[in-house]
Amino acid sequence: MIQERKIPRHVAIIMDGNGRWAEQRGEERYVGHMQGVESVRRAVKAALRNGVEYLTLYAFSTENWGRPAEEVNALMEILCKSIVAETPELKAQGVRVRMIGDRSRFSERVRKHLAWIEAETGGQEKLTLVLALNYSSRSELVRAARRLAEEAAAGALDPAQIDERRIAGALYTDFCPDPDLIVRTSGECRLSNFLLWQASYAELYFPEVLWPDFTEEEFDKALAVYAARDRRFGLVK
Ligand code: IPE
Ligand code: IPE
Ligand code: MG
Repeated sequence: MIQERKIPRHVAIIMDGNGRWAEQRGEERYVGHMQGVESVRRAVKAALRNGVEYLTLYAFSTENWGRPAEEVNALMEILCKSIVAETPELKAQGVRVRMIGDRSRFSERVRKHLAWIEAETGGQEKLTLVLALNYSSRSELVRAARRLAEEAAAGALDPAQIDERRIAGALYTDFCPDPDLIVRTSGECRLSNFLLWQASYAELYFPEVLWPDFTEEEFDKALAVYAARDRRFGLVK
């Protein structure tokens, strides 16, 4: 039987393995992060070509602040430079960029770059590229609980009205559907505080390839793995 072509609407990727890629070559870790930007370009292209509507990339976790200052600074530098360098092409490709995570911890310079790329690409609608930056799923849930509690305390929300839809609506991801497919490169099989609520029924895929080696073919392979999966959502089929 010919397999029906099932394209995920939303693909989320935990881009892991940059450090190991660099270390294997005797290079500093930031070299791996720079090379990782090329994989981002390829993933965006492949997502567009396949008709994926949302591509979420886990680029910096809240826990990543605990890395050596040189690495964190290099990552911030790469982020700002990439925003400036990539925005024209992203716009030309019809890509809208949104950020999820707590932006208040970033320097003013980084915050300005983020606000700029979001405003600059806001009108595009082929693909929404979601960057998870200073993102932590547990912090996101705490923030959501606090927001709903504040509304309730102000008398604007009856606690009995709190349901899954309201919680989802209080998360950073209120504008996008849940991920259908979550990919984590480098062979690590964990979520590391990424989209814990949203991942409830996501298909998970853990290829061995390190993020800097993630090609368009690897992206296509992930979609093929997804298409062969049997999603049941708790039902009998
Ligand atoms: C992922 O690569 C990028 C970030 C976390 C920013 P790593 O830097 O975690 O690479 P490994 O896991 O050490 O190889
Ligand atoms: C997860 O990777 C975060 C990002 C890819 C941005 P880490 O490399 O930080 O995760 P752990 O420490 O291996 O769980
Ligand atoms: Mg890692």
